[in-house]
Amino acid sequence: MELKCVSISNSGQPYLRHRSTPGEYEPTNLTLKHPCSDHYPLDLYRASISFGNEGRKRRTERETAEDEATDLLDKDKGEDRIELSIILPESEETVANIFSMLGKPDEDPHWADVWHGGIALNEYLVSSSTDGGGVGGSLVRGKRVLELGCGVGLTGVLCAMEGAKKVTMTDREPFACYCAIASAIANGFASVARALDEDARVVDGLTQMDASLLDDIVYSNRSSECDCVEARIMNWFKLDEYLKEEDDFAYDVVIACDCLYCEEAVEAVASIVFEAFSRRQRQEGKGVNNTSLSSPFTFLLADPPSRFPQNHEKFLNIMQEKIGVSDVEKEDTLLAVRNPFQRDEGEMVVKICKYTFL
Ligand SMILES: C[S@@+](CC[C@H](N)C(=O)[O-])C[C@H]1O[C@@H](n2cnc3c(N)ncnc32)[C@H](O)[C@@H]1O
Repeated sequence: MELKCVSISNSGQPYLRHRSTPGEYEPTNLTLKHPCSDHYPLDLYRASISFGNEGRKRRTERETAEDEATDLLDKDKGEDRIELSIILPESEETVANIFSMLGKPDEDPHWADVWHGGIALNEYLVSSSTDGGGVGGSLVRGKRVLELGCGVGLTGVLCAMEGAKKVTMTDREPFACYCAIASAIANGFASVARALDEDARVVDGLTQMDASLLDDIVYSNRSSECDCVEARIMNWFKLDEYLKEEDDFAYDVVIACDCLYCEEAVEAVASIVFEAFSRRQRQEGKGVNNTSLSSPFTFLLADPPSRFPQNHEKFLNIMQEKIGVSDVEKEDTLLAVRNPFQRDEGEMVVKICKYTFL
């Protein structure tokens, strides 16, 4: 019997999700083994996706040097499209099938897919840094970025490409963390990506992985302003546990794409954002409500507006309660994006909420 991934929406209606054909995926030598069983290996693939204006490719320094050497650089074209490789399983369905076969049908396979929220935030970040300030200016350049619910690393890795100083991608699912760090490495961040076997907190559940395999997936050496890209296991409901092991929880920007889909998560996510904000305040020697931070603290939230808008409202209320109504600015941007990983779903509108805490 073929098992299909069926998610139950809040309305109680199941919906089926599909994605593009695995033929578009390039196989890698990476395989995830489930900690509970050797029998269901999960092969990982490389797929690429680009952001920014079509036909205008942003080059790595190495590519630029090569093009200049062979006189291929078309100077009129500009360089504002950015190409990203991601490492991920064949499909969310494959993961759901494995969970089912292991007798864990309730485990969440959503990390294994690429979602419209992530695609839209990437477009927003790229367009904001290439259209002369545009919607968001260079929001992450030089910043320390914390990503919640990173999945396979689509947006965290883009932040590193966009010049973030440090990127911490977090997810409760160890396999997602593995894919996220593999995606960072696949984009040339090998030298700054924290090796999986060097940190017990990262490696938890992944000890069977051969980190040396990751060397084979690096395909360009990216020179970057980024000092560190890491993937860490963090469950929003266990922030205290995470913080016990974390002595450097200091961020300027927090991002979350397609994460506010369940009501219980809103309070937990709000607490993490508030913790990150207040630690930064303390780090700068300011009390909460002091308006003279060196640069504003930003939270970027991306979700289709039709998906649980009440959760967004609740989030804003919590933040205003914690920080003060006049100290939370919110700016919404709507972006219609197509998700090449879910082609049959067509274009979807995503709302990017940019919260600035003054
Ligand atoms: C819908 S996916 C979005 C993935 C990615 N941000 C994107 O836009 O493609 C939601 C992600 O949140 C993670 N997640 C869900 N609940 C979580 C929790 N309680 N703690 C940490 N991560 C969680 C899932 O594992 C999954 O990777």
